[in-house]
Amino acid sequence: MAEVRQRKAPAVATEKHKPEASTTTDAQPAELEWSWSDYGSWPLSVRWAPAYVALIGVFIAVFYVNYVNDPGLDMSSTESCIATFNYTFRINAARHQAEHLSTHSWELGTAAEAVEELVDPQKTVFGRDPFPNDKIPSQGLHLDQALIWLHQKIRTNNQTLFADDWGVSDPAALGVAATMLGHRWPQYTDAATRQKDYLLKDAPKYINGAISHRREVAELWSDAVSMVPPFLAYYGVAMNDITLIKTAFKQIQLYRDVLSVSRGPKKGLWKHIVGPSEMADDGCWSTGNAWAAYGMVRVRATMTAWRPSNEEMTEEKKKLDRWIGEILDGAITTDDDESGLLRNYLGDDSWFGETSGTSLLAATAYRMAVLRPEIFGQEKYLSWADRKREAVAERIDDDGFAKPAVNPLKHNSREPAESSPEGESFLLMMGAAWRDCVCAGVCPQPGHA
Ligand SMILES: *[C@@H]1O[C@H](CO)[C@@H](O)[C@H](O)[C@H]1NC(C)=O
Ligand SMILES: *[C@@H]1O[C@H](CO)[C@@H](O)[C@H](O)[C@H]1NC(C)=O
Repeated sequence: MAEVRQRKAPAVATEKHKPEASTTTDAQPAELEWSWSDYGSWPLSVRWAPAYVALIGVFIAVFYVNYVNDPGLDMSSTESCIATFNYTFRINAARHQAEHLSTHSWELGTAAEAVEELVDPQKTVFGRDPFPNDKIPSQGLHLDQALIWLHQKIRTNNQTLFADDWGVSDPAALGVAATMLGHRWPQYTDAATRQKDYLLKDAPKYINGAISHRREVAELWSDAVSMVPPFLAYYGVAMNDITLIKTAFKQIQLYRDVLSVSRGPKKGLWKHIVGPSEMADDGCWSTGNAWAAYGMVRVRATMTAWRPSNEEMTEEKKKLDRWIGEILDGAITTDDDESGLLRNYLGDDSWFGETSGTSLLAATAYRMAVLRPEIFGQEKYLSWADRKREAVAERIDDDGFAKPAVNPLKHNSREPAESSPEGESFLLMMGAAWRDCVCAGVCPQPGHA
């Protein structure tokens, strides 16, 4: 055997050293003269070619799934889509800040609404069936996280849901949560009823009948549209009383009659404050427009989700769509700051771009895209909302803070806030609204151009 090995070894070495010469030898003719018709004649490189092609295909697929498409997004059902959604920013850090920083009535109510939208979206008015059998949703063995967090902060032994000597509307921001809690504990329903009675009977009214935002003077602030009408509408569903939903709509109309700008470059946007005090503010505060628009969206969604109002209030729904559209159109028209964020006062180029109004108006666009896709599912609104969301998201730090955010207690301060409790809640609303739009199949999936 050793002899055989020794005899073969030099032969191989020889071939290696003179490859040119081997062309003429009979030893390996197949490698050079092969034909497609004779498989046996194919060289290895040709025989394996399909495997290379397949391998490249697999690589592209893996790359696409993992890096181009979102890796985890499971679109097989709404629930799995929500469970696997990538918000692209630290939304749980923002949630922590919203819960941690909120102290005023409207901040607490807004944070609870935001967390409900994030964690229990099916029970909010944006859910697929938020009023099973035309009733508000029940609380199971475990309360919703937002309600666990909020319930001890709601006052159940007084006329309003939160101590506030100054504001009329703001304590009503706790009204939806109180009504939901009333499903478990009747004292919350009683408290919500007293809050409703205070608003409709005792609270000061503007000359046109709009419920004042403040106690000592009758004054209209765009902010109030996020506090009062969504509560009245939701409470109306709980009480099976459509007149309250009509009252919610009427209050929005009365606010709009006074605050909406009717001509000029800011047409359709809302002024911030109209009233007799020194706080009157003709400017179109970005956050104020967002409060008004998102409040209208919540009422619009409530109307649609509840069968009786959905059937009866066709005209009101159309009007809300138009009024919400006016604010979005105004925001889009005046959106010219190079930061990509909306200016703190829309249409006033002396103001910096900031995250609070921008994120809640992006949320407004996403919600309307699902509610009225024929109008708001258009590229014009969807790609604008995506750009605003991305401009906000890239300014959210690891602690969940979005900056620069307007000082929520000094809306005309040229100095942004260190942190904004309501601004943090708006981030959750923006994230949840985008997610629900993607999961509804209206907004494009992230990564799909
Ligand atoms: C979520 O999306 C962002 C931005 O597209 C990306 O950088 C991040 O890796 C994604 N996170 C996960 C867990 O996929
Ligand atoms: C209700 O709250 C006010 C302060 O907002 C307080 O002065 C009043 O005593 C309270 N009433 C009751 C019955 O607790």
